[in-house]
Amino acid sequence: MAQYEKILLKNMEQPGYSGSLKEYEQAGGYQALKKVLKDFSPDAVIDAVKKSGLRGRGGAGFPTGVKWGFIPKDHPGPKYLCCNADESEPGTFKDRQLMERDPHQMLEGMVITCFAIGAETAYIYIRGEFRLGAQILWRALDEAKAAGYVGENLLGSGKTINIYVHQGAGAYICGEETALLESLEGKRGMPRFKPPFPATHGLYQKPTVVNNVETMANIPHIINNGAEWFASIGSPPKSTGTRVFCLSGHVKRPGNYEVPMGIPFREFIYDLGGGMRSDKPLKGFIPGGASAPFLKPEHLDVKMDFESVALAGSMLGSGGVTVMEEGTSMVWAALRLMEFFYHESCGKCTPCREGSSWLVQTLQRIWQKKGRQGDIELLEELCGNIAGRTVCAFGEAEVGPVLSTIKHWRHEYEALIQEAQVALPPNKELPVFSH
Ligand SMILES: Cc1cc2nc3c(=O)[nH]c(=O)nc-3n(C[C@H](O)[C@H](O)[C@H](O)COP(=O)(O)O)c2cc1C
Repeated sequence: MAQYEKILLKNMEQPGYSGSLKEYEQAGGYQALKKVLKDFSPDAVIDAVKKSGLRGRGGAGFPTGVKWGFIPKDHPGPKYLCCNADESEPGTFKDRQLMERDPHQMLEGMVITCFAIGAETAYIYIRGEFRLGAQILWRALDEAKAAGYVGENLLGSGKTINIYVHQGAGAYICGEETALLESLEGKRGMPRFKPPFPATHGLYQKPTVVNNVETMANIPHIINNGAEWFASIGSPPKSTGTRVFCLSGHVKRPGNYEVPMGIPFREFIYDLGGGMRSDKPLKGFIPGGASAPFLKPEHLDVKMDFESVALAGSMLGSGGVTVMEEGTSMVWAALRLMEFFYHESCGKCTPCREGSSWLVQTLQRIWQKKGRQGDIELLEELCGNIAGRTVCAFGEAEVGPVLSTIKHWRHEYEALIQEAQVALPPNKELPVFSH
């Protein structure tokens, strides 16, 4: 089995590493911040991150340095950084590990980001369920403040950078950056129309950067080792660095694995994950969190980078790989995922609010062998009326599992509908569902 050099999980994989400030410093922690305060201008930090090719690890994969460059430099009022620690995508659990096991790595990245964009205030929006994570972050912040890494007159530089932890109430939509900002402002978490984008009209309508936990954790390493070093790892030029991929489902060794971007799914699922837990053949897998369309065994040699997965018809998304073995009903899998999206739809946009309910009911009907001829086409039509017709990307997310299971396993839908037809007495129509 190939061994890959760890960057983000390196410290925490050392036996006995507690993530305390003392141990983080012993491992070279906060050297990047000292280097930035001594040798870098804000623009030089932004340039380094641009050159590194780092792309956001929260889902959309937007180039981080480019995003920072959109923050107006001459803005007279406050600017903000929000670290997205909502991690609500099913099958994704890497941010939690990064925060709980090495909190200073992410905090150091946040302080450097604030320096680069000229923000004095940063928030960590952490999902409500991560109570332990919030406690660990509060403790780490106390340590960092006492050591002068956070707070007023940062390491004697005269700069002020404060970081606050804000606990969410547990809603998937609050991971979407504009819903996150609404929630942080004390309002109901619902997405905003874009444009204007957070870079100019973010938190309290002020210039704001929203970045994922893993994105932040990469920053000190780019400063310490150089943009060229980072840009040479993974699948340059468009998918650089490592990625902490989460492996779950019917595999022998589920967990978080940090690998350079671009290794094939086959190596990830079989070498690192140990293959199927029952040694049955693989049936299908989700490559990037619940909203990423399913892929099939024929995609096992696709590289785990942004472009290759997009070319295969899916997305790398949040990095959550969920594997299903032969014997799993893909209609059932689509129904389970759709139930999640239906529950989490915030209700702002009619196509998503109403459509998700109709998708669940149609899938339920098919799964319960009460499906009707035309139900597959109905699902496709419903999906077509949701994707692209909502304020945020939730619409595209929720139709992914339905459309991709129909694309790859249509015969399973047809067989269940066929069984329903056989079970019904001749000429007997099922009643039409009504609310
Ligand atoms: C419905 C929805 C849920 C999302 N959930 C998360 C999340 O839990 N964590 C996250 O970092 N990004 C999430 N995102 C992506 C964010 O909107 C945003 O792109 C990201 O936080 C930007 O950070 P990055 O550039 O570092 O990836 C979500 C997006 C959508 C549409």
